[in-house]
Amino acid sequence: MADAAELKREAAREALGEVRDGMRLGIGSGSTAEAFVKLLGEQVASGLKVIGVPTSSRTAALCEEVGVSLTTLDETPELDLTIDGADETDGDLRLVKGGGGALLREKIVAAASRRMIVIADESKLVDALGAFPLPIEVNGFGLTATVLAIEKVAAAQGLAGTIMLRKRGEEPFITDGGHLILDASFGLIRDPEALSVALHAVPGVVEHGLFIGLAQELILAGPSGVRRIGR
Ligand code: A5P
Repeated sequence: MADAAELKREAAREALGEVRDGMRLGIGSGSTAEAFVKLLGEQVASGLKVIGVPTSSRTAALCEEVGVSLTTLDETPELDLTIDGADETDGDLRLVKGGGGALLREKIVAAASRRMIVIADESKLVDALGAFPLPIEVNGFGLTATVLAIEKVAAAQGLAGTIMLRKRGEEPFITDGGHLILDASFGLIRDPEALSVALHAVPGVVEHGLFIGLAQELILAGPSGVRRIGR
């Protein structure tokens, strides 16, 4: 049976079939997106011409290593296609992202793209979002007040649970944008749209990991093959 890494490569390989010469790409972060970057690098070495906006410094470094040309959203503010992974997705193309801490850039890049395809192994497909703790990127100023405000807006929607400051070793995890990440274990999120709006109304929240209305298609790889949802 294929292992998780092989399934990620399978999904990435299928997504590569959507990449055309001359495309401006948004390039995601995480292990599945990295599998895509490696395959993309092989195509670039064989003559494919694309330019990409990376969603994290880590993805940027990998792109440089495999020879994928990079640009920025300032130079190239409109993209043709973003390929990225997800921590969770439901059948309605709603996502939880940010397990790797790159959610802010991932969302900005996805929103600048005409189309977003999510690649994942099929374990990421859930009936309803919420088993994976929701990453929330916050400003460091007033952290305790921001946590309290998040708890209040969540409670107003019947959601409760632990909110943990993400750490790397003993130190807080710092995002590429210089912010902190809170991981909120609210359990089942019945109304992701309402939670998204409510979290955006908390001043200390920079962005959250609910991606709604951004992905057009899921490419999911499982032991019995690759399936596409939303095409
Ligand atoms: C990075 O911040 C995330 O949004 C990733 O896209 C997500 O964590 C998926 O990562 P894997 O492909 O490693 O599961």
